[in-house]
Amino acid sequence: MIPRLTLLCLVVASTFACDGLPGRPNPDDRYQRPEDVKDFGALYATNCSGCHGATGQLGPATPVGDPLYLALAAPEYLRTIIAGGVAGTAMPRFGQEAGGTLTPEQIAILASGLGARWSSREAEKLAAKAPGLVAPVGGAVPGHDGQVERGRGVYGQFCASCHGPDGRGGEKAGSIVHAAYLGLVSDQGLRTTTLVGRRDLGMPNWHDLGQRPMAPGEIGDVVAWMASHRAPAP
Ligand code: HEC
Ligand code: HEC
Repeated sequence: MIPRLTLLCLVVASTFACDGLPGRPNPDDRYQRPEDVKDFGALYATNCSGCHGATGQLGPATPVGDPLYLALAAPEYLRTIIAGGVAGTAMPRFGQEAGGTLTPEQIAILASGLGARWSSREAEKLAAKAPGLVAPVGGAVPGHDGQVERGRGVYGQFCASCHGPDGRGGEKAGSIVHAAYLGLVSDQGLRTTTLVGRRDLGMPNWHDLGQRPMAPGEIGDVVAWMASHRAPAP
């Protein structure tokens, strides 16, 4: 037997809202317009995790959740990349002004949320000793100032033990000079990997790759050497 009050409620439910009625949807579950989503976790899961991994690591693209990466990447830099993407790579432009779907506020939430969720004190200490994430102007220009030649030597010293004598892959890691790979990654992407490593996949950062930390110039040189294997632009 249904209590009278509930019965009354059911009767008027079609005309008047009757909150709390069994089966009535929770207002919190109501459809949210995409531009109203303000939660970092939801924004990240919808827009980023497919490429950068659900935890900011172990995805096919740069581990943007790596604490060392986050200690090195300024929020303004993150905002610029999220809004404008990386030309010539799979990193999309998310800013509405660039044809994307995210508002400036959502981009700011993502940029600050990455650090809030995944940064660490330990990584910040290490980052204080690191070369800058972004190459100084004039750095890493293939063929510039003998960089490629120097980079070949740097490669032999710091990378060959895993990526093989000529970069085409070794026992511990794959090729980093394949044209198909290099055609999809920017010089900054190569620099980021050299500096931050791929801790998630077993590649140490610039500090722990070899017998001693890599010097800032050596990072630019080895990036130039890798980039020199790109197929020439048509
Ligand atoms: C379709 C795949 C894809 C999606 C989706 C994607 N990214 Fe990326 N992202 C990439 C790739 C590939 C790169 C490396 C580009 C390069 O070579 O420089 C990258 C680079 C970046 C970088 C710069 C890394 C560096 O070297 O400093 C940041 C920051 C970043 N993505 C954040 C995000 C965020 C935040 C989202 C979600 C809003 C997102 N990405 C969504 C593929 C993607
Ligand atoms: C201790 C082993 C080790 C050393 C040393 C090492 N790497 Fe790696 N590297 C890896 C592993 C593991 C990966 C993951 C992918 C794979 O297996 O090829 C990787 C991936 C990469 C990638 C591709 C990253 C991506 O996101 O797809 C680049 C570029 C790279 N390494 C550059 C370098 C450079 C430059 C050096 C030297 C300065 C170096 N590596 C030294 C183990 C190493």
